[in-house]
Amino acid sequence: MKPFKRWFGSKPEGEELIQQLDSDNIPNHVAVIMDGNGRWAQKRGLPRVAGHHSGMKNVKKITMAANAIGVRVLTMYAFSTENWKRPKEEVDYLMKLPMEFFPKEIDELIANNVQIRMTGWHEGLPDYTLKAIQDAIDQTKNNTGLILNFALNYGSRKEMLRGIQRLVADVKQGEISGEEIDESLFSRYLLTDPLPDPDLLIRTSGELRISNFMLWQLAYSELWFTELCWPEFKEHNFYEAIQEYQRRARRYGGL
Ligand code: IPE
Ligand code: IPE
Ligand code: MG
Repeated sequence: MKPFKRWFGSKPEGEELIQQLDSDNIPNHVAVIMDGNGRWAQKRGLPRVAGHHSGMKNVKKITMAANAIGVRVLTMYAFSTENWKRPKEEVDYLMKLPMEFFPKEIDELIANNVQIRMTGWHEGLPDYTLKAIQDAIDQTKNNTGLILNFALNYGSRKEMLRGIQRLVADVKQGEISGEEIDESLFSRYLLTDPLPDPDLLIRTSGELRISNFMLWQLAYSELWFTELCWPEFKEHNFYEAIQEYQRRARRYGGL
């Protein structure tokens, strides 16, 4: 078994759980639907946005937990194309979080060689939101460690439809022929290209659904759900999910 890596700055909690994991079977790509911020706050008599703030702080913790065991890509679903339906004050609050998150956390992310990316549409996002994330992307673009990928203004059906539109345009222009379209070519027209498909999907808050997240990419991902709301989901819960993942047999339709 190869040794687990080291980290700089705040240590992830749950080290004893790390030692119980099989370092040769760590999921390459873990995707997380960070759900339940609002309910977490309401249970405590706080406004929903307090849950979003607490949820934001949790992103760094789980990033470090993933980094410590050698996960290569961690995608965090932060805002869906459907979340625009929410009250304007809540949307405005969410859009300001990157301006708080990145300046606060970027030094530690850089010290840990983390590379920031975004999967989602720029259109519709306020300039200040985009600038905060773009600065973090630029500052970390040469980092070679964990990819921390934010799914922000992302929705999977729209992703597939836009991909098909671009694909059709390329066929019309003669750049590709219809016969060439296979799974790997289609994947290149999705926003997640060139990231690998998630091996493990974690969803918090007890909801047992996918909510328009990576419908194509999750075809053979292992799904893991917890009743815990996102702000109360801690490092040891993340390692429990990894442990359960390591107990699963992935067959991809074979034997
Ligand atoms: C997840 O928490 C964060 C976002 C969708 C932005 P929610 O805000 O959905 O919290 P609940 O599900 O209403 O409790
Ligand atoms: C999914 O959560 C989106 C994010 C976590 C960003 P939602 O709270 O929007 O999903 P539904 O509405 O419960 O399906
Ligand atoms: Mg929700």
